[in-house]
Amino acid sequence: MSVQFSDKTAIVTGSGNGIGAAIAHRLAAAGASVMLADNNEESAHAVCAEITAAGGRAAACKVDIRIPEEVQAMIDYSREMFGPANILINNAGLGSQKHFLETPLAMLHQMLEVNVVGTFLCSQAAAHDMIEMGGGRIVNFSSHSGLLGSSGRAAYAAAKGGIIAMTRAMAVDLAQYNITVNAVAPGPIDVQRNRNQHSEERREAWQHAVPLGRYGDPDEVAAVAVFLASDDASYVNGQTISVDGGFTAAGLRVKNL
Ligand SMILES: NC(=O)c1ccc[n+]([C@@H]2O[C@H](COP(=O)([O-])OP(=O)(O)OC[C@H]3O[C@@H](n4cnc5c(N)ncnc54)[C@H](O)[C@@H]3O)[C@@H](O)[C@H]2O)c1
Repeated sequence: MSVQFSDKTAIVTGSGNGIGAAIAHRLAAAGASVMLADNNEESAHAVCAEITAAGGRAAACKVDIRIPEEVQAMIDYSREMFGPANILINNAGLGSQKHFLETPLAMLHQMLEVNVVGTFLCSQAAAHDMIEMGGGRIVNFSSHSGLLGSSGRAAYAAAKGGIIAMTRAMAVDLAQYNITVNAVAPGPIDVQRNRNQHSEERREAWQHAVPLGRYGDPDEVAAVAVFLASDDASYVNGQTISVDGGFTAAGLRVKNL
């Protein structure tokens, strides 16, 4: 790997599973000290054990990113273990699938709480440490649903679109402190949750809709998040980078049209 993180501490939320776990593995392999933070404490500890067994530096904690006190405890624990964090990856997120007319208000609130409020709280708490250290990197997680309309995604899209807007505004406010803020917008990724939830029909529809003809691997998303967290991305700020096999670039795709 060309980017090195040996002098860096990174907090990765939602790193007990899927893309977050892949990001934590990549950062640790590149030399970062990694705080694995997840609502699911058991899975965060399991990934932490894999990283330390491979010779990496990591610790794990339980956090519900919607709760300010728990977020501050995560920041404090990371600081106690490894010193102030230079990198925050706001990967923890939650999806929903319901036709707009049937979407309960509680679902909209839940999507906004986990995705938007959680990203806001973690970023605000981490930014204070970054300012003290003279800079840092924040990487947020949006989705193709934040960029395009998809069926049954009104609540989730509101949250993931909100993250794109908030990423830009955060980037503007935090630039004076040498903190960059960017977002990743994954397409369909082959995480365990999708393997459990996507029917054969849905998988086929996705494979047809994505120009590369397949789901992405969690590590393909991790590679972009880690780049945005690296010194190499020093002049990238306020951007949302799609990692979706060309899904959001494509329009009507009919052979021989
Ligand atoms: N996998 C995809 O196809 C896909 C597509 C677009 C966007 N995304 C986004 O990428 C990110 C990672 O997705 P994934 O597929 O790896 O998810 P995942 O469901 O596999 O893992 C998400 C992790 O976040 C944790 N989490 C959920 N709510 C939390 C909370 N309130 N506090 C702390 N932790 C919490 C879960 O325990 C879980 O470990 C999410 O923000 C998701 O919305 C994923």
